[in-house]
Amino acid sequence: MVKEREPGEAGRLRIAPSILSADFGALADAVRGVDVETDWLHVDVMDGHFVPNVSIGPPVVKSLRKYSNKFFDCHLMMSEPGRYLEAFRGAGADGCTVHVEVGNTAALIAQARSLGLRVGLAANPDTHFSAVSPYLSSIDLLLLMTVFPGFGGQSFIADVMPKVQEARRVIDEEGLNVDIEVDGGIDTTTIPVAVKAGANVFVAGNAIFAKPNPEVAARQLRESALARAS
Ligand code: DX5
Ligand code: ZN
Repeated sequence: MVKEREPGEAGRLRIAPSILSADFGALADAVRGVDVETDWLHVDVMDGHFVPNVSIGPPVVKSLRKYSNKFFDCHLMMSEPGRYLEAFRGAGADGCTVHVEVGNTAALIAQARSLGLRVGLAANPDTHFSAVSPYLSSIDLLLLMTVFPGFGGQSFIADVMPKVQEARRVIDEEGLNVDIEVDGGIDTTTIPVAVKAGANVFVAGNAIFAKPNPEVAARQLRESALARAS
């Protein structure tokens, strides 16, 4: 059971449902309902400052930990993530991703690392690859946003794909163990596009939790990704 919380080998194809699109009144059921067909659990944390929306924090992570042995992939859309990394770790987060746009990046990476977290760095659609490339050797995951963060259910921004391709090329050339995650507007139509560009972790909110059968929807996403990958 505990073993499942391991992130797994970098570069492997993974489906990470975003609970932002689930029914917050029945989160435990939502999480258990996709357990079989998914790999990680993506937790979107919004502070009402870095993004206009407010979502969830460490107490919810702590509560969900009782219902899932998945790797908890926490996406911190926060202006001051350093104030909360320890609380997320204590609540049961396995990985935390901070945004490069908030600055203080080297210190935040070091802080997350010292807490034993798997470390992610995120970039908004309009943030250039050169902003994140200096940190590739000190992170485990690069999150390239395919929507502007703040809300679920937005449309995939295909213009981000050249950045995904560039990241994949550099990561492979340098032999780095870094996952490339895409987040926003991922569905059975867009997932093959992101696979082709070189992403390997796929966050999906609406394409899973807004569907009548989230488990089937998650399986269909994986099948669409695998069809492109093969
Ligand atoms: C956006 C969040 C995403 C979002 C994805 O700010 O980071 O994880 O919930 O939702 P969909 O898949 O519906 O675009
Ligand atoms: Zn997210």
